[in-house]
Amino acid sequence: MRAAIEAAKGGYNVAVVTKVYPVRSHSVAAQGGINAALKETDSPEAHMFDTVKGSDYLGDQDAIEIMCKEAPADILELEKMGAIFSRDKSGGIAQRPFGGADYPRTCYLADRTGHGILHVMYEQLLKYGVYLYDEWHVVKLVVKDNTARGIIAVEYEAGKLHRLHSKATIIATGGYGRLYKTTTNALSSTGDGMALALDAGAELMDMEFVQFHPTVLKRTGILMTEGARGEGAYLLNAKGERFMSKYAPKVLELASRDVVSRAEQTELEEGRGIDGCVLLDLRHLGEKKINERLSQIRELAVNFAGVDPVKDPVPVKPGAHYSMGGIKTDNDGATRIKGLFAAGECACVSVHGANRLGGNSLLETIVFGRRAGKKAMDFSKGSPLSDFPVDSLMDAAHEVANIVKRENGEAQYIIRDELNAVMEENCGVFRNKERLARCLDKIRELKQRHNGVSLSDKGELFNNELLSVLELGQMLTVSETIVLGALNREESRGSHYRTDFPARNDKDWLKHTVIYREGGELKIRYRDVKITKFKPEERKY
Ligand code: FUM
Repeated sequence: MRAAIEAAKGGYNVAVVTKVYPVRSHSVAAQGGINAALKETDSPEAHMFDTVKGSDYLGDQDAIEIMCKEAPADILELEKMGAIFSRDKSGGIAQRPFGGADYPRTCYLADRTGHGILHVMYEQLLKYGVYLYDEWHVVKLVVKDNTARGIIAVEYEAGKLHRLHSKATIIATGGYGRLYKTTTNALSSTGDGMALALDAGAELMDMEFVQFHPTVLKRTGILMTEGARGEGAYLLNAKGERFMSKYAPKVLELASRDVVSRAEQTELEEGRGIDGCVLLDLRHLGEKKINERLSQIRELAVNFAGVDPVKDPVPVKPGAHYSMGGIKTDNDGATRIKGLFAAGECACVSVHGANRLGGNSLLETIVFGRRAGKKAMDFSKGSPLSDFPVDSLMDAAHEVANIVKRENGEAQYIIRDELNAVMEENCGVFRNKERLARCLDKIRELKQRHNGVSLSDKGELFNNELLSVLELGQMLTVSETIVLGALNREESRGSHYRTDFPARNDKDWLKHTVIYREGGELKIRYRDVKITKFKPEERKY
């Protein structure tokens, strides 16, 4: 939406095509905040250093510098657009500590920051007259002669396929948390844009880096914001020990997410958990502070785990939360396909490297959304409208019709459940060669089986089962790239921890993994990391 606003402000005809209503986009669930060095005692350079260190030195420092330098002005612009932020005593934008940051620079709206920003973005879309195609699912990015021509999408209400012919296309489809059984992500986070881009000829980068958030609610995986630890909550094991003192003696619960998730997983695997969880203890914060700053997670814990954080500690564990990898772009969102751009979680600029800091995700959507929108507009100004290949709509219609016509196949949800289980079991917080190889074999088997699924609902209108089959194909494509990248990277860095290669190995692996298709096969190449100001050093918290 931020990208669309920028292009529409420039006077362009812009449409947003989205498979959910825009205010139900997963950004609405971002709780804890958005980072920016707003205070005189802080600086974009300090924000940059924390981000580079958090990335385990895999983030591209030129991109990180842009993000950190442009953050303050973007936050103030959001505020002018109408975004509400919690206030500090002097009336300024309040900022809280977050994991991996040496300064309290996370701006927030209680624990509903994404909600607040997303609704303002939507208002701006209406203000600038952006066309909205809600509940349309994109089935193809149309590319010819390495130039993007537009998209083909199913309109769910009518069950019709449409083509949208454009000069520029920006993918902003978010992450793929739903590949895993335990995830903070909305049902819509199925990695569609990454798979579409790969199949259209773009490259994916650093897909092996999957972020596991350390505090997701038992059973449902709902996010319990890092803001809780930022406000002072503790993590306890079954013996009542504040175990982070063993793993990150200096900053305890406010180490970066990969460190905290590994600590929890170790406690669980060594038998110091309770029913597969550790405990997040907020009781000492008191009811007043919890209600003022963390009211949403109180409500979620009560409703979904039957625990009131004011009275009892909340059972939590690590869960899939964020994709550091994605569609490879330059610092303005451009991919290697002319006229095709990407921004936000589906893209890899790369500002997060091997591990993202909390509060840098909303920031990335705003800074690089704006930049991608501007670049797409500039590209459109200087380019003619290329033709839309005549057969592409018919080809897509045949593909969809083949799924609908198929009889007596397996149901899609069986394959989806098996995918969730195999990813959770083998491509989680701790990985090794044997598990990853098993996982890759299973994904390839599931891909074969996906070709034979059939629908029990053959209707045209609101066919959610058809949507699930299309999503599942995209989920399988994305899973294969994650596991392939993880199997090849024989070191541990950030969120990617190989028990058979437990050390970071800068000599051989200080490089980005780039995956692309050639002749239908997935291929890998590697690319240097851009290091400008901060030389890699050991990461300690
Ligand atoms: O914990 C959280 O509130 C998550 C924030 C983020 O992922 O940036």
